[in-house]
Amino acid sequence: VQHELHGAVTIVVLGASGDLAKKKTYPALFGLFKNGFLPSNTHIVGYARTKMTHDQYLERVTQYIKLGTEEDKAKLNAFKQVTSYQSGQYDQAESWIALNQAIEQSEQDRQLQPAQRNRVYYMALPPSVFIPVAQGIKQHVYNATAINRLVVEKPFGMDTESSNELGDALGALFKEEEIYRIDHYLGKEMVKNVMNLRFANIFFAHAWDRQFIDNVQITFKEPFGTEGRGGYFDDFGIIRDVMQNHLLQVLTLIAMERPISTDSEAIRDEKVKVLKCIRPIKLDNALLGQYVGDLDGKKPGYLDDDSLKNKESQTPTFAALALFIENERWEGVPFVLKAGKALNEAKVEVRIQFKNVAGNLYDDTARNELVIRIQPKESVYMKFNSKQPGLSYQTIQTDLDLSYHDRYTDLAIPDAYESLILDVLRNDHSNFVRDDELEASWKIFTPLLHAIDDPKQHLPLVTYPYGSRGPQELNAFVEKFGYDRSNSDAYTWPRQSMA
Ligand code: BG6
Repeated sequence: VQHELHGAVTIVVLGASGDLAKKKTYPALFGLFKNGFLPSNTHIVGYARTKMTHDQYLERVTQYIKLGTEEDKAKLNAFKQVTSYQSGQYDQAESWIALNQAIEQSEQDRQLQPAQRNRVYYMALPPSVFIPVAQGIKQHVYNATAINRLVVEKPFGMDTESSNELGDALGALFKEEEIYRIDHYLGKEMVKNVMNLRFANIFFAHAWDRQFIDNVQITFKEPFGTEGRGGYFDDFGIIRDVMQNHLLQVLTLIAMERPISTDSEAIRDEKVKVLKCIRPIKLDNALLGQYVGDLDGKKPGYLDDDSLKNKESQTPTFAALALFIENERWEGVPFVLKAGKALNEAKVEVRIQFKNVAGNLYDDTARNELVIRIQPKESVYMKFNSKQPGLSYQTIQTDLDLSYHDRYTDLAIPDAYESLILDVLRNDHSNFVRDDELEASWKIFTPLLHAIDDPKQHLPLVTYPYGSRGPQELNAFVEKFGYDRSNSDAYTWPRQSMA
């Protein structure tokens, strides 16, 4: 492991009393600590407004940490020794000065040299305090004699304008190379695998374009609604929540040209280029939905949620959007992004559907598909046609299947946040969103989002029952954009014995 941090760092978790911190940040920090991936001289300072004793803090931030073995328990005790809590305000100089003193004290206790007094500021915060916190840190906590890194979590604005404003404000305080904008999908194993699949295999290289690929489906399904989170969600909607960021990142990796190297700026340059070739989404190329209660009345509709203030909300909880990339490789190939809450299953996948075989010798053959299953049960499988074994000459559909749980039986796949925090420590920006990338991505979505937000425009919003496959209009929508499901009926994946 390459610790550019000279063996020492202080990680400040801002918003340490919140949900993200306890569910994701601390379990990820513990995962890294446990496996020896944090620099040996690391201290973690939690910071938030809530007043808590040291024990209350430890209890809160470790409640989601899973402990498998006795060794894990011992490691957790050791982990508790390297963290402390400091409460304070987000907009008061005295609070930041006190935080800085606490960090300096811990640096002295650890006998760190000036060049080792590196600091990572992890903002697990609501967007309303991003700027005051970044200002407070820059003025009172930033240590100019060592390395400083700022980790930021979405939402990065609501549209092009607000995102640019936020970007300018952050940019005035921190250098781009100091900023790490997290999109946690970029830390997922299968998302990290897309470049290897594409660029380390010659047999994909030449079939990866409009000549061979008919359409690409990128699908995100969650089996739960927005219960309890309606307050946050209603301002954002499914497009801002998971499509403008997570699904678009996946699309970018699938569609970009080969970078000149695996250097992070080379990768991000290619991402920006392909994003700039995507036209803003047309209203005609969008299907929007909102869930209603399920048929037997057990699950609530979106509008039934107590945390929702606007009982006539038109916020989509489901969307299918067709995007087109206007370049030589992809012109005319629909990339269909689909995402929904309160659906029938949990699943995130990329499905690349190839074209029909020209002048096919065999009747009724199905199209080839390459499927990258991001979660659950990571896998890559290729649907292809083969002779029915035995005396028949019938062509049937089957698959080449790399299911990680079958093939890599002892492997524990690290959580996305573990992978990303390690990247921050290693100074690898590849899996973080650059400022120009963010701007290019908002441009694709902003006109559609403004139309949705404008009550005068009354964009059509269809309904679907909680727990269903989505709106019934969906099949016609994906077919309109090329997806062919004929001949797939007899085929299921994974095969029954493995399911
Ligand atoms: C978050 C969204 O960014 O991603 C949530 O705000 C969504 O609404 C979550 O549930 C999905 O992440 P994962 O890792 O559970 O697929």
